[in-house]
Amino acid sequence: MSNKKFSNIEAERIILRKFKEADAEAFLTYRSNPLVALYQGEGWENYKHEQAVAFVKEQMNFEPDIPDTWFQIAVELKDTGKLIGDCAIHTLPHDTNQVEIGFSLDPLYQNKGFGTELVKCLLEYIFNVLNKHRVIAITDTRNKNSIKLLERIGMRLEGHFIKNLWYKGEYTDEYLFAILKEEWQ
Ligand SMILES: CC(C)(COP(=O)(O)OP(=O)(O)OC[C@H]1O[C@@H](n2cnc3c(N)ncnc32)[C@H](O)[C@@H]1OP(=O)(O)O)[C@@H](O)C(=O)NCCC(=O)NCCS
Repeated sequence: MSNKKFSNIEAERIILRKFKEADAEAFLTYRSNPLVALYQGEGWENYKHEQAVAFVKEQMNFEPDIPDTWFQIAVELKDTGKLIGDCAIHTLPHDTNQVEIGFSLDPLYQNKGFGTELVKCLLEYIFNVLNKHRVIAITDTRNKNSIKLLERIGMRLEGHFIKNLWYKGEYTDEYLFAILKEEWQ
């Protein structure tokens, strides 16, 4: 069990908060959008309403910092209260001082700087509140927007894995980006 309870994080235009039941429909709509699902793992294009409801319910009762689990955080637009995306912290199983992050935005809210704002918030929380040593992010080498975001935020490209992942019918390449606590500060 985790002894870290997640509290809302407020940035300039967005709030990072726990999921609530009312998020299921919006979550399903943007996560099953082919533009969002393209490099996100198998099955998201065909995600079902029941799966979204179950996902949201599970995350509502979850906390960060549990080894080998993904803690998913909702991203809400302050102005409207709308769910515009989500991000996640994967506490790594071999060393809980290290985490992997993930992030997704509804295409309606991409290219407006919300991705950068949310990842900044996430890293601040991970380093300053959870006190982690190192953060990694793994992305398909074709995922240009994700790569640009990780570079913009100051994460370092540390690895290029060649044809290491069987994904949607072919072996694909992945990049591993990382940043250390002392680099973030
Ligand atoms: C990855 C993802 C979150 C990036 O989102 P994004 O909107 O491109 O990222 P940002 O919020 O940082 O937006 C940056 C762009 O907005 C522009 N922008 C517009 N208004 C802006 C503002 N007010 N402030 C900052 N940037 C602004 C920037 O110029 C930049 O454009 P550029 O890259 O052409 O220079 C998004 O593409 C996504 O959800 N993809 C699908 C899911 C996915 O693949 N996730 C990653 C898995 S590893």
